[in-house]
Amino acid sequence: MDILELIQKRYSTKKYNADKAIPQEKVEALKEILRLSPSSINIQPWKFTFVQNPEVKAKLASVSMHNEEKVNQARLLVVFSVADNLDAFQKVVDNELPPARRDWYNQIKASKPEADLKIWLAKQLYIALGVGLTASIALGLDSTPMEGIETDKYMDILNMEDYRPLFAMAVGYASEDDFNRIEAAPKSRRLPENVIETI
Ligand SMILES: Cc1cc2nc3c(=O)[nH]c(=O)nc-3n(C[C@H](O)[C@H](O)[C@H](O)COP(=O)(O)O)c2cc1C
Repeated sequence: MDILELIQKRYSTKKYNADKAIPQEKVEALKEILRLSPSSINIQPWKFTFVQNPEVKAKLASVSMHNEEKVNQARLLVVFSVADNLDAFQKVVDNELPPARRDWYNQIKASKPEADLKIWLAKQLYIALGVGLTASIALGLDSTPMEGIETDKYMDILNMEDYRPLFAMAVGYASEDDFNRIEAAPKSRRLPENVIETI
């Protein structure tokens, strides 16, 4: 299937088949694909938490608003978290990034109020989400992006201190009676002429 067909086929799954396991090599591929996501100045201000443990997933489901059922049924939940403690993240930058990137980050950090810096860091996570959604369908997996989670409670359950969850992605196989399947709910988008400008 070519990339256009994959994108036409992917959709936000609303009901998963809890009985169908994801081959572990696909989970491992997804980990590596997310790690390779691009980001501005290659800053990589993220943590991707792969939750397959049913007990932990159930705890997260209970603080996932209208997404509770999806989180329980999907066999994998990936939590996308952004660096939130900037002192701790400075150590990551100093220890893990090449000097040229570190200097660039330090310049950006000095040029912005802390709140703006945090917004810029958070934007990078959404790039990884796009990569993750596209990669999932390419791996033959269904997925759901979910901002509808209680991030403070996720932080507690996952024992996070320096990173803050922003959103999560459920991954698995859709249930045959998912009302949102592409055959039942065709893609709804604004018209090409209203969103694409060609010069
Ligand atoms: C950042 C983001 C957050 C979203 N949050 C949720 C969510 O919490 N629950 C949900 O069921 N769908 C969520 N969605 C799915 C969108 O509603 C969906 O992508 C949009 O309606 C387009 O439909 P499609 O993904 O099926 O093509 C989210 C999508 C994005 C990109």
